Amino acid sequence: MNDIDRFTQLDPQDMRGHIDGLPSQLESGWELGMNQPLPDGPRPKMVILAGMGGSAIGADLAAAYLGPSFPIPLIVWRGYELPASAGPEALVILSSHSGNTEETLSAYDAARRSRARLLAITTGGELARRCDHEGLPAWRFEHRGQPRAAVGFSFALILAALHRVGLAEEAWGEIQAAAEAMRLQQHDLRAETPVARNPARRMAGQFLDRFPLIIAGGLLAPVARRWRTQIAEVAKAVAQFEELPEADHNMVAGVDHPESLITRTMAVFLRASLDSPRLAARVEATRHILMVEGFNTDVIEAAGATRLAQQWTCLHYGDYVAYYLAMAYGVDPTPVAAIEELKSRLRG
Ligand code: F6R
Repeated sequence: MNDIDRFTQLDPQDMRGHIDGLPSQLESGWELGMNQPLPDGPRPKMVILAGMGGSAIGADLAAAYLGPSFPIPLIVWRGYELPASAGPEALVILSSHSGNTEETLSAYDAARRSRARLLAITTGGELARRCDHEGLPAWRFEHRGQPRAAVGFSFALILAALHRVGLAEEAWGEIQAAAEAMRLQQHDLRAETPVARNPARRMAGQFLDRFPLIIAGGLLAPVARRWRTQIAEVAKAVAQFEELPEADHNMVAGVDHPESLITRTMAVFLRASLDSPRLAARVEATRHILMVEGFNTDVIEAAGATRLAQQWTCLHYGDYVAYYLAMAYGVDPTPVAAIEELKSRLRG
């Protein structure tokens, strides 16, 4: 059996198709967001992006991308309730693929109590039902698949919303450039490209039977988290991520023990040439410390000529790596039984 046939057998719900289609999804998300109803009211004084897991990462990506130029406080909120500062002048964007996530519904209740302006991004569920019932805007996107595979929608819809309330620049050109850079990079990363010419498949080989540790800062900090969470949810494997510059103030002191784990760790640094040069210097210096201590290390240079392109090509690369790691472990990349079981146990 050739590799593609084996992948298809292990992947009956076609996670690979979702990953291959991510550049187009990013574009569709923006286009959809430009045609949806906005919440009423003046320009907000603060923005809270609330969601969990695969529906929160789009918020992290938007916050890292917009962060340096965003004119007002921007908080990504994972959890119950909302910060006390979320009053009537705040815009709360609730992102939940299913619309049924307990923490996000709790944030909805908190936003209603504090009379914050509210916008939901979802495929439906209880969140959409509540918004419809109360006449609040709910941006629905069509997506049959896992929330984590809809990251292009959750990111681009948030970006479009922030643009349309006057807080972010028009970004269609940026989105198109990012999608093009992803498509260009994709030639080498797709399953059709043999291992010898496919860096994502080789990286998955480096992770196999090792502990992946992903390290990045700035624009790519949420991408390191994405690599880590995709390794968990797609490959069903342990991994961890660290954020720079913070890791240089603690993690680097704790790299001596246990030796058996250190020699089985594969530390991968993600670097974006368009991000701060101080971060690039930190990647070099931090990598040096880990190498001296016996860690296996590597650096991925993000492709693309714009900040958004570098963020998204690097994310896409990690999605492919996690997929090939799933294939190498012989697991179905789609179901997340442990997450479902937890949700149903907590529902009681
Ligand atoms: C599953 C996934 C999860 C969910 C999370 C929240 O693919 O990515 O992390 O995103 O459990 O669920 P939703 O997105 O439905 O609010």
